[in-house]
Amino acid sequence: MQPPEHAFHAHLDRVLITQDAIRRRIGELGAEIDRDLEGAGEVTILVILQGSILFASDLMRALSLPVYLECLRVSSYHGGTASTGSVSMEVADLSALRDKHVLIVDDILDSGRTLHTVARRLREELDVRSLRTCVLLDKMVPRAVEFRPDYVGFEIENAFVVGYGLDYQGRYRNLPCIGTLAPCWIEKG
Ligand code: IMP
Ligand code: MG
Repeated sequence: MQPPEHAFHAHLDRVLITQDAIRRRIGELGAEIDRDLEGAGEVTILVILQGSILFASDLMRALSLPVYLECLRVSSYHGGTASTGSVSMEVADLSALRDKHVLIVDDILDSGRTLHTVARRLREELDVRSLRTCVLLDKMVPRAVEFRPDYVGFEIENAFVVGYGLDYQGRYRNLPCIGTLAPCWIEKG
């Protein structure tokens, strides 16, 4: 039986990454991370909320390593289609990460500010045993802050994308693919 067509599909201009391509690539990422962390024991996955929940939940299931899960709510878009330049991070107790092998999982690397800020906090405040970063998407834009993730799902052009966890004003997160929104669905100004 075919799954029902998602109601928001019609809002997309172009599909950049299909559901199948996402699934295949996550399998490859899982195998690579398993290999790199072999023998490390447990790895603590730090999920950057909210956009990364779909990616993180699929990636976790593609790993055979034992994992712990921690989440951190971080936001830099505040409703528009461009990063605001300020990264707000909740005041969370991250002491569970002390002395752990940590894998930060984020949906998309854009200006670099989010991951730079989170990684700096982990390095400065918590004595993590090792720190790696995995992003599903790497947007081909000049970074505001230099940041190099260890694992990248897909490189994408400089476009605002939605789906598979990524939102515009809170919507479209449950689209199973990733695509660009047709301009008529983006608020002017
Ligand atoms: P950065 O701090 O500019 O690297 O932005 C990273 C965060 O901005 C991501 O975790 C997303 O939540 C959000 N973001 C960046 N680009 C997009 C996009 O194209 N669509 C939806 N959210 C995005
Ligand atoms: Mg995010």
